Amino acid sequence: MNIYEELKQLSSGVSLGLQCNPKRFYYGKGARLYSEDDQEFIDFSAGMFTNILGHCHEYVEEKLIKAIKRPWNTHDYSNEDRSRLLEKLQIITPKHIDTFEFYSTGSESIEAGIKCLLSFLPPGRRRLCVFKNAFHGKTLGARGLNGTCLSGERAPNHAVIEAPGEKSTESEIDRAITEASHVLNDGRIGAIVLESIQNGPSVNIISKRFMNSLADICRERDIKIFADEICVGLGRTGKNFAFEHYNLKPDLIAFAKGLGNGYPITALGGRRAMLNTYPYGKPGNASSTFGGNALGLSIALSTMEVYEKEKLGIRAKKLGKIVESKLTTLRSTPQVKIMGYIGLFWAIGIFNDSAQILSDELAIRIHRRCQENGLHFVLFSGMLHFAPALTITESELIFGLDILIEAIKFETGI
Ligand SMILES: Cc1ncc(COP(=O)(O)O)c(C=O)c1O
Repeated sequence: MNIYEELKQLSSGVSLGLQCNPKRFYYGKGARLYSEDDQEFIDFSAGMFTNILGHCHEYVEEKLIKAIKRPWNTHDYSNEDRSRLLEKLQIITPKHIDTFEFYSTGSESIEAGIKCLLSFLPPGRRRLCVFKNAFHGKTLGARGLNGTCLSGERAPNHAVIEAPGEKSTESEIDRAITEASHVLNDGRIGAIVLESIQNGPSVNIISKRFMNSLADICRERDIKIFADEICVGLGRTGKNFAFEHYNLKPDLIAFAKGLGNGYPITALGGRRAMLNTYPYGKPGNASSTFGGNALGLSIALSTMEVYEKEKLGIRAKKLGKIVESKLTTLRSTPQVKIMGYIGLFWAIGIFNDSAQILSDELAIRIHRRCQENGLHFVLFSGMLHFAPALTITESELIFGLDILIEAIKFETGI
């Protein structure tokens, strides 16, 4: 079956990039991918932002081969890798985050966090607050936090506040702080779920002044903070966690993408008093069939060992400066808008000339030209998203950026 026949058997819900510019990859090394039609790519997608160490990392593979020969799933009895991983997580996360649970997907960790909050918060204070334009996953509970519903879904009664980006004007930020203070005053809100740097529909780096004021409001009113670090945690933005760019002290943290370097393992970390609260903390409630399976734990441990040893967060910050200087060469036109960049995480919106409406058609053409010239990245509706491995070399990064800039200039005629 060729790729086009294969696509006919997949649902129309698979990604836009795959549907428009399909490829099959048979090999990868570091930030490079190789397709079946013998093309080499610089990979700016890192498998949907997951491979922080790049593809087929030797140390992780070596440890995995050993783990494969041990039992794969002994439920949550597991093995020594988990205790070593917990030691690592204790170093990477803030001190007060002292208890962890392991799951298989980001959405599952978010769902667990919601359940924990609803169990921990006193009756009468179980209303949650979320950011407008948030994205927290695709399962029903997580989707309910996104502020968008598919037809047929019931909209949950979460409070929603605007989270202004760093480019907002002072008066827009003032207005958002006043609104947040007003909304959070309702007496029923016990927790806020937030991404301090939002992923999707673009990259929104939320204003420092807004976030720091929000943290003060939450402290004053004893509103718990649940930080969704699924996408931006573990070095992607130049710090271990994106909330460290702000004066935030979250009570719960969900992190995922970088943890297993592409393998599905995710974690929810929190204060012991919260995760052990009843009935949430009742034995059996925080385990799942595959969550924290032995292979996942082995991969997460070796990934975290390399992450720490090679100081990849610092590296992302340094390489982010190259991205920043290269992106400034893209003259700002109505068609191209740099949505946001931080560390090794950035997004570019592609608009049609006239109105400021995202253009799928133009974005697909840019994506196709990049693919032809050897650059692979994630394409959402009208939006180009980039998050290469944190181990990418400077020359690979520059080479990929040059392909991207050429394709944008070629297709938009700037
Ligand atoms: C911020 C954020 N939260 C939650 C999720 C959901 O994770 P998953 O797709 O593993 O369920 C994602 C996935 O992209 C995400 O970016």
